[in-house]
Amino acid sequence: MPDLLTDLRDAVGGEHVLTDAADVAAYATDWRGAYGGTPLAVVRPASTAEVAAVARLAHAAGVAIVPQGGNTGMCGGAVPSGDGTQIVLSLGRMRSIRDVDAAGGTITVEAGVVLADVQAAATAVDRLFPLSLGSEGSCTIGGNIATNAGGTAVLRYGMMRNLVLGLEVVLPDGRVWDGLRSLRKDNTGYDLTQLFIGAEGTLGIVTCAVLVLHPATPARATAWVALPSVSAAAALLPVLREYAAERLTTWELVSRAALDLVVDQGLQDPLASDAEWFGLIELAGPSGAPVDDDLERALGAAVGAGLVLDAAVAGSPAQRAGLWAMRERVSEAQESLGPTIKHDVSVPITSLSSLVDRLAPALEHALPGVRPVIFGHVGDGNLHYNLSRPADLSGDDFVTHTAALSAIVHDCTVELGGSISAEHGLGSGKAAAAAAYKSDVEVDLMRAIKRAIDPDGLLNPGKVLPLQ
Ligand code: FAD
Ligand code: MLT
Ligand code: ZN
Repeated sequence: MPDLLTDLRDAVGGEHVLTDAADVAAYATDWRGAYGGTPLAVVRPASTAEVAAVARLAHAAGVAIVPQGGNTGMCGGAVPSGDGTQIVLSLGRMRSIRDVDAAGGTITVEAGVVLADVQAAATAVDRLFPLSLGSEGSCTIGGNIATNAGGTAVLRYGMMRNLVLGLEVVLPDGRVWDGLRSLRKDNTGYDLTQLFIGAEGTLGIVTCAVLVLHPATPARATAWVALPSVSAAAALLPVLREYAAERLTTWELVSRAALDLVVDQGLQDPLASDAEWFGLIELAGPSGAPVDDDLERALGAAVGAGLVLDAAVAGSPAQRAGLWAMRERVSEAQESLGPTIKHDVSVPITSLSSLVDRLAPALEHALPGVRPVIFGHVGDGNLHYNLSRPADLSGDDFVTHTAALSAIVHDCTVELGGSISAEHGLGSGKAAAAAAYKSDVEVDLMRAIKRAIDPDGLLNPGKVLPLQ
């Protein structure tokens, strides 16, 4: 494609069109090394006009584009195919915060702004941008929007789609949709903003967004608890809500296997309990909110009801950070066991313990010695039921079992009325599985939307919907 590459260099500058193997390596493979491909080129535009120019040129040449933000995704959505025909379009140079409106409660940011930078910009004006993920130091707002990211404060603030008011999107043919509105109410037809959220870059390239800011929550109370069972974890949610109401922001679960992994990485176990299940609770509110008292009363009631065995309450910011690390470091710690087969499932919260009880024997039967590392957003009914290899099996051999093991997890999840992807999206890894569980009507509607917006199938092909 010499002409296309020349035109792309003219559009964004020669140094921002990468083709050397060493230069494209970091963009060609995901952070875990689980998914990878070979791009035709990596293109790094710096503005919406440059993104539009890249899309126009690629469209005219019939070349597919794979949008990429921080490349922290879990299911291969941001990496190209292996045949050297697709462009990776990195939003990493679009890092402007265009506007902060503390009074109106909005912030307008370009797609490549890192989530932690948006949080910091909100804090600087005494506001909160509440999306919070373990990857917040490197994931981008564009990726958060494209995956409809969840994280550890969904209980209180909802998912990313609840935090977006307006979008600017470059369409597959290079046209720009300017939907950068900051309205709380707008009933003028189909909600295009919501359509692009969670579309994983298959319908348009997000270049800018108007996001919602919430009041700051400087008062925080955080506890690490030991639990008798998963059903106790589920039963604890209404108790926490009874005492904390909307001040409850976080209710996360960590299994013994997950705890052992982070302790092996050098973190200090806050309780030294021999329980099998643990959890992180956080309450937050405005300055002066009685979060410490609320937490104490909630824990007292929970211990009285047999739902909590033991608890450690953070007495300082450093202790709070230590408790949070016990939860947020699990994902990376599991990589120390070799490749992880990840599952990102949700069920009604009352079915969580059935899910865990049923899966353990079924997976052990399918692959003796397989190690479940279970953790996640128990308050949302969302578990990361991740699997590591049996000690005597190589990583390469283990991943050959992915389809069989995932089918067990996904079948059970769906039988319990759940979803096979609660927050990470489908990417290439789960696109076929998701289509198999959906009705023909649902898949037809999704394909019709894709055809209407991207009739040539040039935006992130094979992601979300399997290729036909
Ligand atoms: P990428 O990985 O670059 O891309 C993800 C998808 O979005 C791809 O399909 C890509 O094509 C598309 N995309 C990226 N930018 C754009 C754009 N501008 N326009 C259109 N499409 C685009 N996720 C959660 O939801 N909850 C968690 O709690 C969570 N915890 C994590 C913890 C760790 C340690 C790690 C490593 C990851 C975690 N993730 C979590 C997964 C991941 O961080 C999120 O999915 C995040 O939203 C991805 O952002 P990104 O910028 O890295 O996107
Ligand atoms: C998390 O919540 O830490 C991630 O979304 C889970 C994962 O790594 O599977
Ligand atoms: Zn998660």
